[in-house]
Amino acid sequence: MSFRLQPPAPARPNRCQLFGPGSNTKLFEKMAASAADVVNIDLEDSVAPSDKDIARKNTIEAINTVDWGKKTLSVRINSLDSPFWYRDVVELLENASERLDQIMIPKVGCGADIYAVDALVTAIEAAKGRKKRIAFEVIIESAAGIAHVEEIAAASPRLEAMSLGAADFAASMGMQTTGIGGTQEDYYMLREGQRYWSDPWHWAQTAIVAACRTHGLLPVDGPFGDFSDDEGFRAQARRSATLGMVGKWAIHPKQIALANEIFTPSEAAVQEAREILKAMEEAKARGEGATTYKGRLVDIASIKQAEVIVKQSEMIAGQ
Ligand code: COA
Ligand code: MG
Repeated sequence: MSFRLQPPAPARPNRCQLFGPGSNTKLFEKMAASAADVVNIDLEDSVAPSDKDIARKNTIEAINTVDWGKKTLSVRINSLDSPFWYRDVVELLENASERLDQIMIPKVGCGADIYAVDALVTAIEAAKGRKKRIAFEVIIESAAGIAHVEEIAAASPRLEAMSLGAADFAASMGMQTTGIGGTQEDYYMLREGQRYWSDPWHWAQTAIVAACRTHGLLPVDGPFGDFSDDEGFRAQARRSATLGMVGKWAIHPKQIALANEIFTPSEAAVQEAREILKAMEEAKARGEGATTYKGRLVDIASIKQAEVIVKQSEMIAGQ
């Protein structure tokens, strides 16, 4: 282990991020009343170019008037290759109340993208005397984004979370699919004539988790497009949770309960983790660094693994 300690990620639940277009005002109250930990009002790709101005106005009004409870409130701005993003930042930072927690920057390709937004936000915060520092979250959804993922994760102390955006990522990589996350029909291994499906999102997710854990950010799995497929969502979310991600987006309210279910450690998992900690306490009292739990080895590393589950469960329960 490096002598540099791994920084902790923000201690707030991020099991589900619910999205809704800034142009669809009838969704705002529903989003606020939902069981999602994070709400993302979108100014980017779910808003038509002709609606960008009105979506911005709606979004600012909703931030200032809707009761968002304890949710983390985030707005997805337009990407830096568009003509819209600077006005998103200026209007939000000048007119939205301090209830706004976070700005989501999509399609980031390098650390300098974050620097540009940070410089603009910092200047407006100072000019307007804003007291609460706006946090950032980013979406990795391009070849450049994944190639520079670690540089991006280190780019600003404002950064709190990083999501994988499967659809734009697939397009940027030239992947032969129109699916948004989940199993891809043509990505299989053959053995004795049988097909076994692999996970084409795996390496990007793992790279994101590593960059996030190195720099103290929350790694999040992005959208699962087929909102009629609950089991497909669950399978994708379980793989993400197993790899270290803390939550997933919902692009339809049906997906909120699914995300909360998968990213809340189960009672059985928490109980087993507590039993491992107890077994290790007893081993320590006997002067041993390793012992047996249910017929398998547990040692000092097992304490850290068990603590991940117990701490996540306690943090969620405490909110
Ligand atoms: N947040 C809160 N409530 C939502 C919602 C959302 N994102 N999407 C739909 N609902 C509500 C609907 O208003 C409806 O409410 P009602 O029962 O009171 O009438 C209910 O959930 C069922 O909606 P449904 O008819 O199944 O969906 P729809 O056709 O109205 O909308 C989508 C489908 C996909 C267009 C819509 O869910 C949506 O806009 N999702 C977010 C898209 C987005 O933000 N994308 C960017 C990130 S990838
Ligand atoms: Mg996208």
